Amino acid sequence: MSIGSDHSIRFALDGRVVSVDVAEPTTTVLEYLREQASRTGTKEGCAEGDCGACTVVLGELNSSGGIDYRAVNSCIRFLATIDGKELVTVESLQQGTTLHPVQQAMVDCHGSQCGFCTPGFVMSLFALYQKQAQHQNRDRAELARTEVVDTLSGNLCRCTGYRPIIDAGCRMGAYPTPARWSREDAQASSRVMTLASLQRETALTLPGFQAPRTLVAFAAAYKAAPDSLILAGGTDIGLWVTKHLRDLPPMLYVGEVAELQAIKLSDDSIEIGAAVSLTAAWATIVEQIPQLAELAQRFASPPVRNSGTLCGNLANGSPIGDAMPALIVLGADIELRCGDVVRRLPLERFYLGYQKKDLQPGEFLTSVRIPKSASGLIFESYKLSKRIDQDISAVCAAFAITLDGDVISSARIAFGGMAATPARAPATEAALIGQPFTAATIATAAAKLAEDYKPLSDMRASSSYRLQTAMNLLKRFHLQHSGGNTLLRTDQAQAAEVVL
Ligand code: FAD
Ligand code: FES
Ligand code: FES
Repeated sequence: MSIGSDHSIRFALDGRVVSVDVAEPTTTVLEYLREQASRTGTKEGCAEGDCGACTVVLGELNSSGGIDYRAVNSCIRFLATIDGKELVTVESLQQGTTLHPVQQAMVDCHGSQCGFCTPGFVMSLFALYQKQAQHQNRDRAELARTEVVDTLSGNLCRCTGYRPIIDAGCRMGAYPTPARWSREDAQASSRVMTLASLQRETALTLPGFQAPRTLVAFAAAYKAAPDSLILAGGTDIGLWVTKHLRDLPPMLYVGEVAELQAIKLSDDSIEIGAAVSLTAAWATIVEQIPQLAELAQRFASPPVRNSGTLCGNLANGSPIGDAMPALIVLGADIELRCGDVVRRLPLERFYLGYQKKDLQPGEFLTSVRIPKSASGLIFESYKLSKRIDQDISAVCAAFAITLDGDVISSARIAFGGMAATPARAPATEAALIGQPFTAATIATAAAKLAEDYKPLSDMRASSSYRLQTAMNLLKRFHLQHSGGNTLLRTDQAQAAEVVL
């Protein structure tokens, strides 16, 4: 059964279909849970996607007929966007007096600390547990510590520490999957059927919120109402509401447009659609361009990456956004569409000034196309931030050069955090091209960074720190690729200490 458009959303919760009238399009999932559904296990800590106290799990039908479960931050996720999905909260896990394996492992490892953060930790681990349960061939007795640590990078504890929680995460796989969460159980197939019945054929239309199903319908709707706000994952926009208390114009949601959910791989490029999550986008990009593994892992946290999109990062165009420097030096271009008119633009030409982009009224991004690293290209991207995990960059750098023998035949450098937009470094590049790839060349070129950038001082870093670390990162790039000392890639302090 498919459902036509009306003024309510429908989602699955604990085996039931819940229908909710969404009068206010910026109502968050967290507000709904705590204020309407009396499910107060989910907590509000920061209300900006940082602490993980509000973590819930969303289930979505996948292409193999199952359900993928992913953790998201309910504090910045608008309720209207969970239409057609399954919502799992911490209350969903326990059955009678029987704890879910994640909860039991938390008890057994003494991982239950304060009542504020624990539900969020449990839900992040639950999403990992479900992912592992889908890969039945894996030895589930002990989960890799690194995977558990990465899973929990969006859950903060300020009281005690993480060790017992990580232990619980490693151990939870040894507990058998409860029947109702196992893929084989009748309840699992009934959940799949419920979700299938909730899928719409036509746009969801609510007051102030519209979710078209096709690219043509989306483009027409935006052209007709160019003052609308395009909503993708909402991991930037959510904060405009929860932190800046802004009233938003009517929203057009990209998340349900089938064509924008595609990732296309060709011999020489990767094309990521505007509705593809950061999680899925980075997974494909890292497979093809492994140098980006660390940047991908340190981009926000799993719950933010599960909601947010790569195109949202590019479209938001923050000077400290992490994806742009790397994609600019790799020569990425974007596809823009207004009504039926489509054009392509090199990503670096998209940014005209602070928060100013080359976008016409009614025009939006449909995809980004990233060339696979050409053979012989020496490429790296580095992120400097105060914390390793879940932190915004002070400086983000990307370097790509080619060598002809020992001589640098091409150089592309871009930085975030150094100017009002993500930007290339023409003077530095010119100082490299035609020169031998030596420490002396690098020192001369690094001095040119002061011509290319006049960085600001702000709470993340001072202007002089930014300039010095930018120079140091160029030296690090050289050291890493010239057989010199190899700095540990994750040791930011070391990188910051190396003075040219
Ligand atoms: P949205 O919030 O939906 O939209 C962002 C902007 O882009 C809006 O102006 C929207 O109208 C516009 N937009 C979206 N899609 C389109 C489109 N197809 N066409 C035209 N305009 C469009 N960013 C980093 O770079 N690095 C980080 O480490 C990082 N960490 C974060 C940590 C936290 C806790 C949070 C909350 C955010 C973090 N971010 C980070 C910022 C954010 O997650 C990213 O910028 C994300 O990629 C935004 O994508 P989105 O889909 O959520 O965009
Ligand atoms: Fe802190 Fe949502 S309340 S991440
Ligand atoms: Fe809540 Fe440590 S578990 S602050």
